[in-house]
Amino acid sequence: MRLLYLLLLISIISCKTNPEKPIDIETKPEPVLGVVEKNAMVVSAREEASKIGRDILKKGGNVFDAMVATEMALAVSYPYAGNLGGGGFMVYRKANGETGAIDYREKAPLAAFKDMYLDKNGDPIPEKSQLGSMAVGVPGTIAGIFEVHQKFGTLSIKELLTPVVQLAENGYVITEKQEKRLQHFKELFIETNNDTILYAKTYKALDTIKNPMLAATLNRIIKNGRDEFYKGETGQKIVDYIQSKGGVITMEDLNKYEAKWRDPVQFTYKNLNVISMSPPSSGGVCLAQIMKMIEPYDLSTYGHNTLKSIQIITEAERRAYADRSFYLGDPDFVKIPIDTLISDAYLSGRMNDFNLEKATLSSDLSYGSIPGYESSETTHYSIIDQFGNAISVTTTLNGAYGSKLYVPELGFFLNNEMDDFSAKPGTPNMFGLLGAEANAIAPEKRMLSSMTPTLVEKDGELWMSVGTPGGSTIITSVLQTILNVKEYEMTMQDAVNAPRFHHQWLPDVVIFEPDSFDKNVLDSLKLKGYKTNEEETRVIGKVDGILVLPDGSLEGGADKRGDDTAIGF
Ligand code: GLY
Repeated sequence: MRLLYLLLLISIISCKTNPEKPIDIETKPEPVLGVVEKNAMVVSAREEASKIGRDILKKGGNVFDAMVATEMALAVSYPYAGNLGGGGFMVYRKANGETGAIDYREKAPLAAFKDMYLDKNGDPIPEKSQLGSMAVGVPGTIAGIFEVHQKFGTLSIKELLTPVVQLAENGYVITEKQEKRLQHFKELFIETNNDTILYAKTYKALDTIKNPMLAATLNRIIKNGRDEFYKGETGQKIVDYIQSKGGVITMEDLNKYEAKWRDPVQFTYKNLNVISMSPPSSGGVCLAQIMKMIEPYDLSTYGHNTLKSIQIITEAERRAYADRSFYLGDPDFVKIPIDTLISDAYLSGRMNDFNLEKATLSSDLSYGSIPGYESSETTHYSIIDQFGNAISVTTTLNGAYGSKLYVPELGFFLNNEMDDFSAKPGTPNMFGLLGAEANAIAPEKRMLSSMTPTLVEKDGELWMSVGTPGGSTIITSVLQTILNVKEYEMTMQDAVNAPRFHHQWLPDVVIFEPDSFDKNVLDSLKLKGYKTNEEETRVIGKVDGILVLPDGSLEGGADKRGDDTAIGF
């Protein structure tokens, strides 16, 4: 089957030779196919998590059961971003075509206030919103998984979490990438916690890390349910630890936390229907804006990562991120004109001043006018089950290991999501993103996100589940992955591996993954007035996705940039 698909793909590509296409078919590498399975697929940042998710499906559980287990398995084996102390978003599409989304984003504590990260001169203190107890938002992940389980789960929480407890007890083997990351953050862990912690020990690749404290926490959650985290012993330990380090989160904050079901953003792009996350994530709105702005251009003729394609995508990104910074925030606090922002009428006007001869300067561009009115250290997983249900989930602590604050007695890190608020309108956050009043801090408000868990239908049928970590680069990485398959006819695996670039309005620079782009293209961009940078980042995004192949089987694409793994059956 795999071979057949590969042959079919090669023949499609060979037949479609287009003289205008600046791609030399002779030298184009053969397509690489990811893992292909007939029934179900889980793709996540860790083999252990993908395997636990797959086992739940094999046992007869559905995609939502697998979500609960995979999310917690990532918290054990990928503490860099997998979490109990953070939050996330999930978009789903059931086999019957019904769609929806859940928001388990963190919230500002009741004691939060607008200028809480400003010094006496009114300047932001970045460490305060990024490191330690004051950076922590009220966590949403446990509320999220219990809400999903209550609505759609079929197996018991005990059945779902027991393999995760075993993983924490028996340990997981660390990879070379993990060894490097832990080494890199070791001093910061000790400094932030004023003590050593499990993850501040020196580890080498192939060592096993066991986390009995996290196993005990999970066992209490199995026994006492969601309330263990928000009202019980675990919650009290979180609050005591945060307050002992000078933080302001209280039991009342935990008691009041609720995950929220939201309507996803939906829009069409040619024969695709894209279903993505709505505010408080900016992901779906920005993705819709960019895709609708580039839809009139024939990217497949221009070719992948060619001058014209990069210009068109960059200019659409510039305009979408300018709008993001002004209009988007928590929809429970600010009125967002979503319908207008993603309408053809508004978006065609936004591209009016675009011209292929010369870059638009970000300083000449602001948010669009609407009458009456503004880490890369996250993780993503995609799952499609044997019943045809699909989910796309992105979850985060924000920065690497979040605030670096680790509750030793509970075995997990706490987020630093408060940095995703706009601490001072007009001043960039850790991703260089600017925000305005719409994303100002207020008690109980959710901070704006870029997470873009996305499902795509083609001709009315489920076609793709996709998402990525990457802070502000999440949206543009998801965009390029969808385009890679739709416009440039790549396999899922090639689409997630392909080199990426990113632009976000301000700073006015286009970043490229190093040594991956044609030097002539980069030189031509500079001549047209684009500021380019290949040093800014080693990788842009770490995309995981699943593609439904023409015969109904599933291709998992696990990004080569990480330890990501696709496992199915
Ligand atoms: N913390 C990254 C994001 O939510 O966009």
